Amino acid sequence: MKRIKVNLDKQVLLSHEICIGNNILDRIGLMVAKSNLAHRYIVITDSNVSALYGEEILGILKEVEVKADLIEFPAGESSKTMDTVLNIVKELLNRGVDRSCALIALGGGVTGDMTGFIASIYMRSIPYIQVPTTLMSQVDSSIGGKTGIDLPEGKNLLGAFFQPQSIFIDLRFLETLPDYEFINGLSEVIKYGIIDDVDLFNILEDKADAIRNRDPDILKTIVERSCKIKKGVVEIDEKDMGVRRILNFGHTIGHAIEAESGYTISHGNAISAGMIASARISERMKYLPSEDRGRIQGLVRAAGLADHIPSSISTEGIIAKTRADKKKEDASIHFVLLKKIGMPFINGSVEEALIHETIEELKK
Ligand SMILES: NC(=O)c1ccc[n+]([C@@H]2O[C@H](COP(=O)([O-])OP(=O)(O)OC[C@H]3O[C@@H](n4cnc5c(N)ncnc54)[C@H](O)[C@@H]3O)[C@@H](O)[C@H]2O)c1
Repeated sequence: MKRIKVNLDKQVLLSHEICIGNNILDRIGLMVAKSNLAHRYIVITDSNVSALYGEEILGILKEVEVKADLIEFPAGESSKTMDTVLNIVKELLNRGVDRSCALIALGGGVTGDMTGFIASIYMRSIPYIQVPTTLMSQVDSSIGGKTGIDLPEGKNLLGAFFQPQSIFIDLRFLETLPDYEFINGLSEVIKYGIIDDVDLFNILEDKADAIRNRDPDILKTIVERSCKIKKGVVEIDEKDMGVRRILNFGHTIGHAIEAESGYTISHGNAISAGMIASARISERMKYLPSEDRGRIQGLVRAAGLADHIPSSISTEGIIAKTRADKKKEDASIHFVLLKKIGMPFINGSVEEALIHETIEELKK
């Protein structure tokens, strides 16, 4: 099992470990038992994950004499709301959960974001542990302490930065993940390769088949590398004030495509099209060599992700949503662009006409 330390050194108490391995649930039980974090644990999970792993995790915790029970909510982004938070909080109160207890988020990003948010506010905060079960949550959402829920006005509008006590990543969870969700997560792994790690990018190109077949060794490599990149960025900029923004590569246009499609396009496909748009803008502004843009496009295609934008989606609509995106500052839209694979930078002077032309081009 690989252990990666997240050093938030101005706040030593917030530093924690990410433990990554294959088939390590038993050891997670032991580590929770040894941690003495709480006298009782509540596993928060969604209906799908509960059916697959709920009994198993409770059994493992029971075996090491950790008191635990489970609260389940309906799976899906539509549950990431204040209503679900209040239902779970009422259930915690009914079960006598107090500040000597801790939460375990067992599930994807929806479960992790919402459980972290509840932990940040329940009785003025209680500790929580992340046990991410999707590729997206293992490489991205479980790391960094961003918690939150959606409002009718938009996604992730209510939340807090609240770090977990530890993050346990068991790659075995990925065996049951539907293809659609696996490919979604792959878009974030590709993003890490593009913004930070040429070796990871090369591995993704060379081992495309093994990745598609979910070879455990190659999955371990790409998950570990992705976690190291995310934690490295979070260590420098925990509160998303500067460097952490490079993680938004492809997301400014990607989020706009996702929203403009009424969320009928998957997050992974929207972000992939957004990454290609950003690479193309970088190329057209003479920052990025054409060869690098071609490699990015090829990798996205090989992963089974979208390299174009459906023509039914309005270009003006995408641009309007890009402007409204929370990454916008003052009057200009701040884009993460590339000088080469592995070398991103932030640029606030991309002409709207160029964005327009690039989107139109990606619709062909
Ligand atoms: N906090 C952050 O920094 C951050 C970063 C990126 C995304 N997010 C958030 O993460 C969410 C998306 O996360 P997600 O893609 O994991 O979605 P998700 O949590 O909805 O999980 C996707 C689906 O996979 C199912 N599932 C989970 N694990 C499974 C497993 N092992 N086997 C079979 N099915 C399984 C779930 O029940 C769900 O139906 C969004 O709400 C997004 O805003 C947060």
